[in-house]
Amino acid sequence: MMGLGKDPQTDRLEEIHAEIERLRSLIRRHDYLYYVMDAPEISDREYDKLFKELEQLENYYPEFLTPDSPTQRVGGVALERFDQVTHVTPMLSLSNIFEVGELIDFDSRVRKLLGATGPAPYVVEPKLDGVAIELVYQDGFLVSGGTRGDGTVGEDVTANIRTIRAIPLSLMANGQLSSASLIDIRGEIFMARSDFDTLNKERDEIGQPSFANPRNAAAGSIRQLDPAITAQRRLRFLAHGVGRIEGASVNTQLELLQGLIELGIPANLEHTKLCEGVDAVLLHYNTLNQVRSQLPFEIDGSVIKVNSLDWQAQLGTKSRSPRWAVAYKFEPMQAETRIIRIEVGVGRTGTLTPVAIMEPVNVGGVNVSRATLHNQDEIDRKDIREGDVVVIQRAGDVIPEVVKVRSECRDSYSQPYQIPDHCPVCGSDAVRLQGQAAKRCLNSSCPARLKETIKHFASRDAMDIEGLGDKLVEQFVDKGLVRDPADIYYLEVETLVSLERMAKKSATNLINAIQKSKKVSSDRFLFSLGIPLVGATVARLLVQSFGDVDSISKKDTSKLSEIPGIGPEVAQSVVKFFSGPKNIEMIQRLLSAGVSPGADASTPDATTPLTGKTVVFTGSISISRSEAKKMVEAAGGSVGSSVTTKTDFLVAGEDPGSKLDKAREIGVKVISEDEFKTLIGVS
Ligand code: IVH
Repeated sequence: MMGLGKDPQTDRLEEIHAEIERLRSLIRRHDYLYYVMDAPEISDREYDKLFKELEQLENYYPEFLTPDSPTQRVGGVALERFDQVTHVTPMLSLSNIFEVGELIDFDSRVRKLLGATGPAPYVVEPKLDGVAIELVYQDGFLVSGGTRGDGTVGEDVTANIRTIRAIPLSLMANGQLSSASLIDIRGEIFMARSDFDTLNKERDEIGQPSFANPRNAAAGSIRQLDPAITAQRRLRFLAHGVGRIEGASVNTQLELLQGLIELGIPANLEHTKLCEGVDAVLLHYNTLNQVRSQLPFEIDGSVIKVNSLDWQAQLGTKSRSPRWAVAYKFEPMQAETRIIRIEVGVGRTGTLTPVAIMEPVNVGGVNVSRATLHNQDEIDRKDIREGDVVVIQRAGDVIPEVVKVRSECRDSYSQPYQIPDHCPVCGSDAVRLQGQAAKRCLNSSCPARLKETIKHFASRDAMDIEGLGDKLVEQFVDKGLVRDPADIYYLEVETLVSLERMAKKSATNLINAIQKSKKVSSDRFLFSLGIPLVGATVARLLVQSFGDVDSISKKDTSKLSEIPGIGPEVAQSVVKFFSGPKNIEMIQRLLSAGVSPGADASTPDATTPLTGKTVVFTGSISISRSEAKKMVEAAGGSVGSSVTTKTDFLVAGEDPGSKLDKAREIGVKVISEDEFKTLIGVS
């Protein structure tokens, strides 16, 4: 090893340059062995040692720094917000199937369209439950990384992508794809179960809320504005396809995956299999289903693709998904446990939501101890009681649900459960309004409601006050420091330091973050006020039509409902909010404190959770069908009349009909009205 003193001699410099290059390629090789081949040759300590040596040399000789050096993964400062990226070839989604019959139909369709007489060759891959990403490599260098978004426009998360060690900053020049001058690589960002557990433990220790599952953790981590945070999250990547390839070509999906691996891109060949015909496909699907709980990461099905790329091109695509591939999902995961007690939570608008607190149980790799019970009707229908042994089910990222009660396990003391007639937090009467499934606490100054109002106000899509997390909000409200959102802007460092876990530095940081939030676009400001039924999309529509919050506050219901996407219920809710003297006074205090909503509502959000999704309604909900339809459409989704495998969500209201049974049978996600409102961003 050479000394590190700066040496003016040219040949010495050349030697140093060569040493820097040697260390870089060594580190890249170990990244490759670790992330692509899953076969590390050195320990983490040895790796860190190499890394430090390189860092030191680059420090002394910055003239040799290159942007693709392994040391340059985390750089720059936190972003204000993400730019947009356009996917030149749209990122499609997949049709889901749930049973053998549908697989057989898929295969028949494929063979018919291709005019094939024998069995069609498919590649069967695991369907990773992660976040879809596109990486663009130009002349071998990573130039951009973007989320899928609505398939055409996503968010530019390049700085975050660069921090993921599984993703090479430059490609290796090996194999069939090495001549590519441009290549869009698509795959999933995800978190291994073990890294997810560690992350949640760490978060728990510092009082931060834990992530519900690895998918949420990965999604939350890749959407961090500060790449330094993403860098700490140990994200992984596995490729499953490409968009554009210029300057190289392959003939089959399997060759493509092999070619990507040769470039240094991780792809999961280990669990991918070439299957001649539908019987072989089914066999591999079953194998994947069996090994799924032992895999280090979560998969929720298998993806079946026609192997030949020519045949794929011949089959083409439908509007949102290809005809040459399908996702064959696994059964939702179920487990048995016992309900210890039922707790009732109070939401921002006073809705009482019963939650079962259960003995922790592992469901497909995730520890579950809470399940939503939705409302009294749901509790009555399933006759769920405290102490019951129940079968719970987890599907995708929805909160686990109770599917069945083992009533034979009950003892004779068991009593039917009733949601209390009073708010569990403030004690005021809880009433069930006509036509609504939920009971509500109507006390507008109920501390539980206030906490939720403040949490919403400070949240990322609202005023985005960094560092004002749930625990702090709870302390503020409990100590009487914050009685409405405006109070936040009158907090002082001296008051904050008296709180738990609040040193001078964090108090100052928080005050700075509060100051920073004062400049806000009008639509976010409107959204943060928490007006019932006014989610991010409605807020944007209102601001786009009327300019600012002041003029919106002066419009009557008929004027407001003239806007496409705004129905009478939403209009009434807006008018009601702005006719409340307390609300007006609170807004005045926000403005006097210096909150200055600007006029920036021109950039529509690329996606909402409902973009491109099909929603079906059953049973009665608190808003009219036409209003609900408008909301779904305003959020970029569409409303279907019957439940099919194309349905993404079934919203089940009071007295649901046969659609609910159908949805359960074919595995369509069933959500309550409240969950629907959360998805759409209103409550
Ligand atoms: S292929 C045109 N292969 O599932 C085909 N997707 O539900 C596009 N996914 O957006 C995707 N594992 O993010 C493909 N082995 C795999 C996959 C996979 C997970 C994700 C992908 C896609 C979503 C569709």
